[in-house]
Amino acid sequence: MGKDKMRIGILSAGGDCPGINAAIRGVGKTAIVKYGMEVIGISNGFSGLVDKETALMTEEQLSGILTHGGTILGTSRFKPFKPAEGDTVTDKPQIIKQNYEELGLDALVCIGGNGTQKTANLLAKEGLNVVGIPKTIDNDVWGTDVTFGFDSAVWIATDAIDRLHTTANSHKRVMVIEVMGHHAGWIALYSGMAAGGDVILLPELDYDLDVIANCLMERSLKGKAYSIVVVGEGIEKPKKKTAAGYIGKKIMKMTGLETRETILGYIQRGGSPSPQDRILATRYGAFAADLIHRREFGTMVSIQGDHITSVSLDEVGGKLRLLQPDHHLIEKGRAMGVCFGGRL
Ligand code: F6P
Repeated sequence: MGKDKMRIGILSAGGDCPGINAAIRGVGKTAIVKYGMEVIGISNGFSGLVDKETALMTEEQLSGILTHGGTILGTSRFKPFKPAEGDTVTDKPQIIKQNYEELGLDALVCIGGNGTQKTANLLAKEGLNVVGIPKTIDNDVWGTDVTFGFDSAVWIATDAIDRLHTTANSHKRVMVIEVMGHHAGWIALYSGMAAGGDVILLPELDYDLDVIANCLMERSLKGKAYSIVVVGEGIEKPKKKTAAGYIGKKIMKMTGLETRETILGYIQRGGSPSPQDRILATRYGAFAADLIHRREFGTMVSIQGDHITSVSLDEVGGKLRLLQPDHHLIEKGRAMGVCFGGRL
């Protein structure tokens, strides 16, 4: 006689962000309340499956976490298919498969970015029933229009840049702020446009230091008291330098304008999720439970426009969704005189 209840495992992997707990709550409560499933929390990403670090999650434990940043399960960047330093093979996928069986799991929900979804797809090919949920502040997961975590990071970065305007104005300085986003410029573009950046440098667009210097000199000669330069961390730069440090020093040297740098860093990943991220994460989580109930595995939850749907993990794994040069916000910014660092 088979188990009468489906038992699903949930894990969060990769960089944390606001909204993961809202997604865990969305999956867990829908699974328990709507489908009568059993929910097992798996600690610290995929390493929790290797070490069998798990715990039953009750409705009680899923309450009160919607607004909490971070992840109650913990996370890690452990990649089970990547052999350890010096090895050529790894037995971790087999251990995971065995533990998945021993734990009596019928499905596994993987909350994570592009690396996590790539691992999820490889585990699906090993025979595990997997559903992915796209999360990252970088907003660079292929196959969905937006990941939760992104809106919260834009709010945080925008607030920070707003604050830099007042201090830049008081001291008549150029303020350079570096935001996260890995190889993608989504946070830089959205927070730069939301907070009135005068120069916005994106990893997806080449930049010319002379163009940047001329833009800032022109602003100064026109009597502008200060300038705000927003830089995505992934722009082209010398290896050992930070993006803000490199651009800031170059500006000072080339223009003589007093310049200061701020690296926003992990603040963009902290704190309570924005209302939009809470809603998106809840929708993603609830739909993941629906996909499991319908046994539609090897998929990732996706939003297209405002429509929640799913895509095959085959389409998603290992791909990056980067800004297109003709993105509407880039075009609008250019038309308003925002400098993106390139020769027009
Ligand atoms: O992927 C999210 C992210 O914050 C990136 O924007 C950033 O480059 C990276 O993680 C930092 O990685 P870690 O948390 O391992 O230092």
